[in-house]
Amino acid sequence: MVSVIAIDGPVAAGKTVVGRALAQRLDFRYLDTGVMYRAIAWLALRDGLPIEDEMALGKLAETHPVRLKGQQSDQVLVGEHQVGEELRGSLVSQTVSLVARIPAVRRALVQQQRVLAEEGDIVVVGRDIGTVVLPDAGLKVFLSASPEHRARRRWRETQGQSQAPEFQQVLAETKARDEIDSSRADSPLMPALDAFLLDTDELSVDQVVERILSRIRELTAAGER
Ligand code: DC
Repeated sequence: MVSVIAIDGPVAAGKTVVGRALAQRLDFRYLDTGVMYRAIAWLALRDGLPIEDEMALGKLAETHPVRLKGQQSDQVLVGEHQVGEELRGSLVSQTVSLVARIPAVRRALVQQQRVLAEEGDIVVVGRDIGTVVLPDAGLKVFLSASPEHRARRRWRETQGQSQAPEFQQVLAETKARDEIDSSRADSPLMPALDAFLLDTDELSVDQVVERILSRIRELTAAGER
């Protein structure tokens, strides 16, 4: 029986929406590890810490565990602060890749993520879940999509906002974040060797979820043979 599912992939590949839907279908918990990096970035910005001060940021992550409450980890507490929409703000979004590059921050958060996943029956979403955080996960999925498709999704979400960005700007930011996430020395974004690779360019969310569910059925049947 597959009890821990890791989903990795670049920004806007559909990890969040697919991960949530999958967790609901399986009645599993859902953990978005990106939120944990965002919470530390938010805290650093709030405290006015220089983002390049690796020691200070590592200490911040160690001393302010990120707690996630609810089946879908909807409530986020960092230290004693409850945070929500501010984690998706543009300042946090621009800073978080830099925070996520810092090894001491990653060490602190990876340790917390392993504890959160210990009980199983969980879908864990991030960049390094199959490779570093939970290499023994029963199923590792790597979602990909072209930068243009991913930027278009992000851009559509911003339409109707008062200061909606141009598509070209969203595309440039998507590529810039890919570059930082894939080229960092510690835990770069890449598929695990045994990951189930899914290109979502031509697939709806439901189709992606169905493919993952049928992969789980195959693995379960193979395990029972
Ligand atoms: O998925 P997201 O956009 O909320 O992730 C925010 C940042 O955190 C992004 O730069 C990638 C990084 N991240 C990471 O390095 N490792 C993870 N397991 C999850 C996110």
